This record gives sequence, C-alpha cells and structure tokens, in this order.
Amino acid sequence: MSVTRVPEVSADVELLYRPFTFGRATLRNRIAMAPMTRNHSPGGVPGEDVVRYYARRARGGAGLVITEGTPIDHPGANGYRNVPAFYGKALAGWKRVVDAVHGEGALIVPQLWHVGSVRRAGMEPFPDVRGMGPDAIVEGGETVVSAMTQQDIHDVVASYARAARAAEETGFDGIEIHGAHGYLPDQFLWEHSNHRTDGYGGSLENRTRFSVEMVRAIRRQVSADFPVIFRFSQWKMSDYKAQIAADADELGRILRPLAAAGVDVFHASTRRFWEPAFEGSTESLAACARRLTGKPVIAVGSIGLAQQHETRKLRTRDNVGSEVADLGPMLAAMAREDFDLVAVGRGMLADAEWAHKVRGGDTASLNALTEDVMQALI
Ligand SMILES: Cc1cc2nc3c(=O)[nH]c(=O)nc-3n(C[C@H](O)[C@H](O)[C@H](O)COP(=O)(O)O)c2cc1C
Repeated sequence: MSVTRVPEVSADVELLYRPFTFGRATLRNRIAMAPMTRNHSPGGVPGEDVVRYYARRARGGAGLVITEGTPIDHPGANGYRNVPAFYGKALAGWKRVVDAVHGEGALIVPQLWHVGSVRRAGMEPFPDVRGMGPDAIVEGGETVVSAMTQQDIHDVVASYARAARAAEETGFDGIEIHGAHGYLPDQFLWEHSNHRTDGYGGSLENRTRFSVEMVRAIRRQVSADFPVIFRFSQWKMSDYKAQIAADADELGRILRPLAAAGVDVFHASTRRFWEPAFEGSTESLAACARRLTGKPVIAVGSIGLAQQHETRKLRTRDNVGSEVADLGPMLAAMAREDFDLVAVGRGMLADAEWAHKVRGGDTASLNALTEDVMQALI
C-alpha cells in the first residue's frame, strides 16, 4: 500500500459551500475558478471548445467562473495570440459560454484586460499598432511603446466602460478588472513602470488615478447592482518580488479610493495565499485588503497545491508538487473571515470536478497537476 500524502478534510469544508450574495444573483458556494489565459480562440472569437472548457468547471461545482483575460476594444489592448476578445463578433461566442455556465448553475464574469506596455507591434488583430503604457519604452534605439497621452487615457477608460456595459448586455453576472501582474492598470500603480510627471504619476494617489477613473467610468455604464471585481497583486509577470505597496498603509491608499469609486469585491492575487503580506505582521494580502476596505475579498494562490518553488515560473508544472495539499489552513483562514471567497486556478485545470470532490471529502481522487494538463489547458 502506498503512503498517501492527502490529509483528511475537516468538517469545516462546508464553509466553502455557503451561498454568497453577488449583485442581484447568489453564488451557490465560495469557490471561483481563477482567470487563466488559454490561447485557444483563433481570430479572437471563443468557439465551442471554450464553451465546453468553462461548462466543465461549472458542472464540476465551481460557484463563480472568472474567464481568462479578454482584451477590451482598444487597439493597443492585446498582447498575445489567440486570446478571446471582448467586442464585436466575439461577444456572440461569449454569450454561448455564459448560457452554458448558467445552465450548470454557476455565475460568470469576464476578466477585462489591457496589456499596456507588454504589447509589441505585430500583434493581432492590429499589427501596426504599437504598445502604449504609462512610460515610453525604447529598445535598440527604437520606441516600441509610447507613453500614453491624456487622450489615450481617456480612450482606454472609455473602452473599459464599453466592455463592462457589453458584459452586462451579454448576460454576464459582473466583471473583473485585470489590475494585476504587470498589465496596464498595474503599470500605473507600480512606481517602476510609471515615471510620469502629470496627474497619473508620482504620488500613490496619482498612480491610482487611472484605475479610479476607469472604475468610475464603468460604474456609470452598468447597473448599480452589477458587481465590479478588481484584481490586484504585488507580483508582476516580470518580477515576483515587486511591490505596489510597501506596507498596509500604502495598500489602503490604493484600495480605499478604488472602493469609493465603486469596486464591490477585491481579488488579492498572490502565489501563496497564506504568506504574510508585509513584514512584521502575519496578515495575508487578502485579509489585509478586507480589513482596509471592508469589502468582500477573494483569496488565491496555491490552494490545494503542494508548496511551490520560490522562483520558478508559475506557468510551468515543475514548480509544484503534484500532491494535493491540506485544505485545513485555507479553511481556518476562511473561518477567521480573512476572506470571503477563494479562487482555484491550477487545481481546477487539473480537475474540473474540484469543487464537487472537495465537498464530498474525496480529495484523494483529485487529479494531480501534470505537465500535460499545463500544456493542454483543456
Ligand atoms: C495557465 C495560466 C494562465 C493564467 N492566466 C491568467 C490571466 O489571464 N489573468 C490573471 O489574472 N491571472 C492568470 N493566471 C494566474 C491565475 O489566475 C492564478 O492567480 C494563479 O495560477 C495562482 O492560483 P493557483 O495556484 O490556484 O493556480 C494564470 C495562471 C495560469 C497557470
């Protein structure tokens, strides 16, 4: 008999299965599927494969599906091949995804995405368009990213607001703003990617202005009870040690104006949900965000996954063990009301039935995360 490293799940697992009021709807549980880019939408249109992929996780018991990042209708929004857009004919594809997910009893929000300075010219669907961000970037003597003008900022903010409106019209249950991981809103927030000397750079208040204006514009375009989630992170794709806030006080100066502007839920993106956010405290980033804003918070990062290596890339399998980790610490944190919801990423890629199996105490039969899973993203 082999030794199993899967511990017993305590009775507290029912904490995960309490309903949660989400705008005018109710989530059947506290488990969200984390947003994960798949690059499986040729031409930017989500097809039947995408419908099946999300419907499978909804059928597997997830309460909320947060879609992969989906570029808004600004020409500089996209940075990657084969990602599903959030405008034009892509919306009919998304409608089929929404209907399928609803049919399985889950709610769904799109993750609205503008990659900002990550984009390089040549990228579909507007190959001639350069990247743009808070700062210009020159590579090999050539300007590859332009610094956004006031007009650019105005245009991008308007594009986010149109996308939010389109989400409500398409039948989504809310939206998530991708304000994390070094993409456009985060580029404004992080002092290393924002050296502006106008009202969008310099002080923390100025660096938060772009996101605040965007949230306000979104609020004007959607119903008052249409939930707006804001995902933020300290870490960036380019730097796992990066910080937008050096301490809780600074984090509050970012998150509170966003809450005042109309964010309903914060999604605190970390690689390991249990780690203290700041030195000198045991509080996690999610718990800190909840205390500072009084808003519901989603925690994420290695839930159900064995400990991962410090520096290896998130999107390769070899940085996590394939064992299913003890859910006890996560449940204890939820019992302490450190956060309200959890998002599960790689665990739910590996096993679409994650939510059902965990409730049934059947963690021993959860599929392990394998190289194939990470490559196929099906
Ligand atoms: C394949 C893959 C694609 C991802 N794409 C996105 C994305 O589009 N937007 C985003 O905010 N995070 C993205 N992430 C990060 C996840 O949402 C999540 O925060 C991260 O995987 C940690 O959660 P986990 O440990 O449960 O996987 C991605 C992660 C993976 C593994």
